Amino acid sequence: MWGGRFSASPNALMQAINVSIGFDKRLASQDIAGSQAHAAMLAKTGVISSGDAAEIQRGLAAIAEEMAAGTFPFRDEFEDIHMNVEARLRELIGPVAGRLHTARSRNDQVALDFRLWVREACDRSAAQLEGLQQALIGKAAAHADTLMPGFTHLQPAQPVTLGHHLMAYVEMFGRDASRFRDARARMNECPLGAAALAGSPFPIDREMTAKALGFDRPTANSLDSVSARDFALEALSAASIAATHLSRLAEEIVLWMTPQFGFIRLSDAFTTGSSIMPQKKNPDAAELIRAKVGRILGSLTSLTVVMKGLPLAYSKDMQEDKVPTFEAFDALELSLLAMTGMITDLEPNTERMAAAAGAGFSTATDLADWLVRELDLPFRDAHHVTGAAVKRAEQLGVDLADLPLAELQALNQGISEDVFKVLTPAASSASRVSYGGTAPDQVRSQIKRWKDVLR
Ligand code: ARG
Repeated sequence: MWGGRFSASPNALMQAINVSIGFDKRLASQDIAGSQAHAAMLAKTGVISSGDAAEIQRGLAAIAEEMAAGTFPFRDEFEDIHMNVEARLRELIGPVAGRLHTARSRNDQVALDFRLWVREACDRSAAQLEGLQQALIGKAAAHADTLMPGFTHLQPAQPVTLGHHLMAYVEMFGRDASRFRDARARMNECPLGAAALAGSPFPIDREMTAKALGFDRPTANSLDSVSARDFALEALSAASIAATHLSRLAEEIVLWMTPQFGFIRLSDAFTTGSSIMPQKKNPDAAELIRAKVGRILGSLTSLTVVMKGLPLAYSKDMQEDKVPTFEAFDALELSLLAMTGMITDLEPNTERMAAAAGAGFSTATDLADWLVRELDLPFRDAHHVTGAAVKRAEQLGVDLADLPLAELQALNQGISEDVFKVLTPAASSASRVSYGGTAPDQVRSQIKRWKDVLR
């Protein structure tokens, strides 16, 4: 492609370090779409003849078919996807292919292709996150009343419902999806027409190509157009946060599946056995999802370091943007889909959860609140009395709800039989009716709100 200036071919190592077709072939459809829009614009503005443009379009359509059929000859000697497509175009339609690159450079071409790819990845991730939310909402609706322990410090804290717990993740994944939508809106400007770095002397119509490729507008600075990769950094950052959320849910699934918790059963579809221990059923999918954040956050780190300190405008360093980004989104997609399958499949052991919900003096706060409400104790005093009640129950080896009334009255004479109404996990959870609380009616109203949002 630059034979005019060169008399010798590159060293084999030069080619090995330079070649990118092995991975940037994933930009094939974006590259062709960009070329189609560019050729149409060149014809419309009279930069090339409509006859030549028609030839180019015919060739590009044939290449798109070869790509779809898997017969396109990807060749290392043409270095990257842009030159592979152009070289093939020349083979198919002859020297007129050379007119396509008028008013264009591989610098704005790759900036465009990659931006299109990342934009699609953001759309896909947002949609997959919504799929996961739907699965969680379905499970939450079935278990709006299912009691389980709520934890802080992974110690039993207060009873909640499984529906409430699952809806917490619906909130998190909802923010993740909106981060992808925000990133998409910000990146939706078209760099095509920036050419190598300074713009073009030809009378190109950048509004036209921007519109044809679904962008809101063309980018406003040619140097920035070819050197910006923050759209990918932002998408990777959104991916890393989503992966962090996935890893938390994955960890809970791993914990809940242990015989010690025994909160859920996972289907055979999302577990594996052991080659030596016949009794085992392992939550491998959850463990792998828990780990994928390493790869995804690693990609963000990798691209951040590539971009750090790069002078304007394009440098070949930026070819290193693709592999981490592809890897991150492959990992995220797999994680989201596997998690959706796992959530759909999992079966809560409701008796086990309910029993655990009442264990560990989880209604102690309810006792303290009762003392405040009914006996007008300051909360700190109520906290003290309740602490003593817990200590006494522990000595006697019983739950708070099973403590004899006389024992409670020994701590405060005002305590009546009435107190036992608030000491069950069900009463505790049902009482938390504040907006966003765990009371089943609150959970149901959040489920309804989310169903409307996602409709
Ligand atoms: N393969 C290159 C990349 O991924 C395309 C741009 C090359 N531009 C250049 N001037 N060498 O970044």
